[in-house]
Amino acid sequence: MRELGFMTEQDFIPNPVPIAIGSYREYSNKIISGSFTWSSPSNIALVKYWGKKENQIPENPSISFTLDACKTTTTLSFSKKENNDEFSFALFLDEKKQDDFKPKIETFFKRIENYLPFLKDYHFKIETSNTFPHSSGIASSASGMSALALCLMSIERSMNEVEIKDEFFNQKASFLARLGSGSACRSIEGDIIVWGSHKEIDGSSDLFGVKYPFEVHNKFKNFQDTILLVDKSEKQVNSTVGHNLMHNHPFAQERFRQANSNLSKLIDIFNTGDLKSFIEIVESEALSLHAMMMTSVPYFILMKPNTLEILNKIWGFRQQTTANICFTLDAGANVHVLYPENEAEEVLNFIQNELVAHCQNGHYICDRIGFGAKLINN
Ligand code: PMV
Repeated sequence: MRELGFMTEQDFIPNPVPIAIGSYREYSNKIISGSFTWSSPSNIALVKYWGKKENQIPENPSISFTLDACKTTTTLSFSKKENNDEFSFALFLDEKKQDDFKPKIETFFKRIENYLPFLKDYHFKIETSNTFPHSSGIASSASGMSALALCLMSIERSMNEVEIKDEFFNQKASFLARLGSGSACRSIEGDIIVWGSHKEIDGSSDLFGVKYPFEVHNKFKNFQDTILLVDKSEKQVNSTVGHNLMHNHPFAQERFRQANSNLSKLIDIFNTGDLKSFIEIVESEALSLHAMMMTSVPYFILMKPNTLEILNKIWGFRQQTTANICFTLDAGANVHVLYPENEAEEVLNFIQNELVAHCQNGHYICDRIGFGAKLINN
């Protein structure tokens, strides 16, 4: 059995099973066909991942709240095929064939083939749907890639005679999801996930997300995230390009140092329930992320005028009230408004009266911290 200590990439390659003298195969129990359905949530980073090395290894550790309502449900059906010389799959989004996502899946399969040697033995049908609208500016890559990775792990589990323990199952699902889209590795479990090695967090790894291991004050339980959809169009610069611009970025090293230090500070903040300091770290992280974009070569801006209107109104509201409301941003114009559950009524009133006017078609999504992906059926 595997001991989950310090894990390396090698640990995620299945151990060959002896079938005759000198002859091995990867799985004891190859099956003809089947299907699994998983639903997996999105997540929102508090300390941001921006900049990566080869093989989706992050330049700095990040930490996120797993979300609850924003999720992808994926059914992966598989059937044994004659040859095993290439990947074969069809992709459906909301029951419609989606060939434009195929290159992304093909790249994903190539990256993970070494860790799931059965991939070329089957034809796959991937049927996926999101609870949030496709064109909402909310990236479906975290929830989508994690849901797919979990379905693939269920297949691997069903082909193994030796039981795969839940802890390894989740770790490998996160490891695989990371190879699809970095931040997707933080969507397998909840409610707070760390990805990337950090000196004060034992067990943290660049290879997969782990549950935040320390005490979290009750003030952060069921934290709310209302996502204001400021701009639903396709991003002008996608995150792969953005991450790559951190190579040779003039402020890169200082940014990576800052992220490590902000994560250290959060450990104490989570423990004591110091919401004021939480707000400072989270907003500074969001603006530092966008500062990196504005100071890349070439530079770019993903915030829109309405993004800034919202940030200024949040600051104004905080000055006039005692509300512990703050914002964070991902790589786009939309604003995530974070606040404790016991302040929800007051904050939602403010959002509806003041902020929704800055959303595209008045659209926003009420979400909250969640507890990770769920197996729907097998
Ligand atoms: O996972 P990617 O490659 O889409 O990058 C996500 C980057 C941010 O959302 C901006 C930050 C983060 O940590 O999620």
